[in-house]
Amino acid sequence: MSIKVTIHGKNGNSQVFLGEVINQLSELLPDKRVILITDKNVHDIYGSLFADFSPIVLAPGEEAKSLRSLEFVASQLIDLQADRDSFLLGVGGGVVCDLTGFMASIYMRGCEFGYLATSLLAMVDASVGGKTGINFGGRKNMLGTFAQPSFVLCDPIFLDTLPPQEMKNGLAEAFKHTLLQDWSLWPHWTEHIQTMKQGNAEALMPILEQSIRFKAQVVNLDEQENGWRKILNFGHTLGHAFEAALGIPHGEAIAAGMMLDLDLSVRYLQFPSELAIEIKNWMKSVGYHDLRGQLALPLLEKYIRNDKKKSDDRLAYPLLKNPGEPELVSWTFAELIQHLQALWVHE
Ligand code: GLY
Repeated sequence: MSIKVTIHGKNGNSQVFLGEVINQLSELLPDKRVILITDKNVHDIYGSLFADFSPIVLAPGEEAKSLRSLEFVASQLIDLQADRDSFLLGVGGGVVCDLTGFMASIYMRGCEFGYLATSLLAMVDASVGGKTGINFGGRKNMLGTFAQPSFVLCDPIFLDTLPPQEMKNGLAEAFKHTLLQDWSLWPHWTEHIQTMKQGNAEALMPILEQSIRFKAQVVNLDEQENGWRKILNFGHTLGHAFEAALGIPHGEAIAAGMMLDLDLSVRYLQFPSELAIEIKNWMKSVGYHDLRGQLALPLLEKYIRNDKKKSDDRLAYPLLKNPGEPELVSWTFAELIQHLQALWVHE
């Protein structure tokens, strides 16, 4: 079974294919020279599948999302005599996809590209929606573009080899999408979380489908994040601060951010408090943590400030009225800190 979802970008459409879709790769690739961009971990396991294409292999990890790697890829492209008519195929997780998309959107003023997402995080979030970029100056995604890949392939077969921590990262993002849009999947989460953690494709398919359809719907309304797309930042303002301050994996950090954002939702949008407690307890039971005891608020505040990409003090901060009913509240930075103080005091 496979599902196709279309994203309509300002500069082109993107088709996202989900299911047993790896065999569709050869039909989707245009009749052009294909250059593969991947990382060493993925290349070691799956390199033989792509033996026909010239490969550029990055070191694994978030460090590869840097200006240095971008320079390395650009030099390799020049050495390979790639031109605007070449096709860049990113095969990997979020880092590889973000870097490939960024490179493709600027190399010789732009060439066509596509992704084969091999991590859960890339399938439910990073590779869908057209955000590309690298980290710079100690800040995440400071340099980047909005550019839609021609296609994104999401085949759960690749999750068989994904390390448990990577599953946890992706599940946190997928759960965010369930909270924001389709609460009818809550029983699925509680019943099947253990098999999903093990990468079971059948158990993962409903949440993969919901995540991709939901993300496409949001991006189709607001590709360039002028407004509504900001709801996808639920858990992320605080999550990014935890990630930077404690040096913990993305999924752990945004799960902690979501727990705090649920508490803020209870206090300021009357999200049902019993349900918030039930959700947070469930998140803790599956291995996520409430991290507010591990970080003093003034330090968190410093990292929140650092994560903001503009000096403008007003935030469109995503909270929930109910599951499936997100709302952007307009708070100044000072108001956010004041509201957080209340949560820290009551812990
Ligand atoms: N990861 C959030 C977004 O794509 O907007």
